Amino acid sequence: MDPLSRRSFLKAAGPAVAAPCFVPRRRRAARPAAVSSANGLVSVEIAVRKMLEGVPPVDAAVLGVEPVENDPDDMTVGYGGLPNADGIVELDSCVMDGRSGLAGAVACLRNIKNPAQVALQVMRRTDHVLMVGEGALQFARMHGFTEENLLTEKARKAWVAWRERLSDKDDWVDPEENGEFGKDFVRTTGTIHVGCVDANGDVGGCTTTSGLAFKIPGRVGDSPLIGCGNYVDNEVGVAGSTGRGEAVIVTNGGHRVVGYMADGKSPTDACLAALRDVVRFTKVQRLLRADGRPDFQVKFYAINKAGEIGSAALYPTRYARATEAGAELADAAALFEG
Ligand code: GLY
Repeated sequence: MDPLSRRSFLKAAGPAVAAPCFVPRRRRAARPAAVSSANGLVSVEIAVRKMLEGVPPVDAAVLGVEPVENDPDDMTVGYGGLPNADGIVELDSCVMDGRSGLAGAVACLRNIKNPAQVALQVMRRTDHVLMVGEGALQFARMHGFTEENLLTEKARKAWVAWRERLSDKDDWVDPEENGEFGKDFVRTTGTIHVGCVDANGDVGGCTTTSGLAFKIPGRVGDSPLIGCGNYVDNEVGVAGSTGRGEAVIVTNGGHRVVGYMADGKSPTDACLAALRDVVRFTKVQRLLRADGRPDFQVKFYAINKAGEIGSAALYPTRYARATEAGAELADAAALFEG
């Protein structure tokens, strides 16, 4: 889409994404930069190092998330991720490459601990974008990915504890000794997103997750959906999300953040604007707190083509960012205080 038709498109989309003037950001990043959710401190460091070695941004993002996908202690991503309601780990991921404008994604993928790498192969080895379930697994097998049991003992115990205390109207008994997975254990929507821009100003992004803990089997969140958990426009930048996927899907969050950057907003202001849209779309009582605010968390991360990094969330949180000067955690801007 050329800048003029893109502007027409944004205006047609209504006031939430319209802007008085469209300012294409064609400046090149002087140096590589990466942004991630707070669980991606190691990921942004790896991604920047790889881009300095000449690795394209989308590949750098996938290499960045790999240690988090492999980490049994991160129960929101890859190996060790919390399973669905049937006790089966189902993983979602997508990648998008700014230079080619291509994307790849997998959803409900079982037995493969690095779904981001499978998504990269979908992008490079097929004419499709999204593959799901058994077809995605067969595709992964075909490309030599090794199958393994992704359910760690820790994740299995968390699932059993959740199942046992789900209801007092079934035959499962909720033992007192559920320990760390007792009554205070909160269902997670963790996830990792890594967005990258290299010194040429080319952009790529990746999001990967085990999704909502104990989800209904077959549930797909925002992470593998292009324009939701991850979106890239090589003329503008990259944005991604973590948190409640359903809220990001209905607002097309990633696309919205990139659209706001295309309108000239800084990455952080673009994330905040998209969060206001999330709030605007959250109307049903069961999703609202007593004070009328959303009863869930959504976090956005963004980098523009010039290498400016930003992040914002509904409620206070941290995020990870890196340049060649190093990687660090920083406070995200928060729409609400607590
Ligand atoms: N944002 C991750 C999910 O909702 O599955």
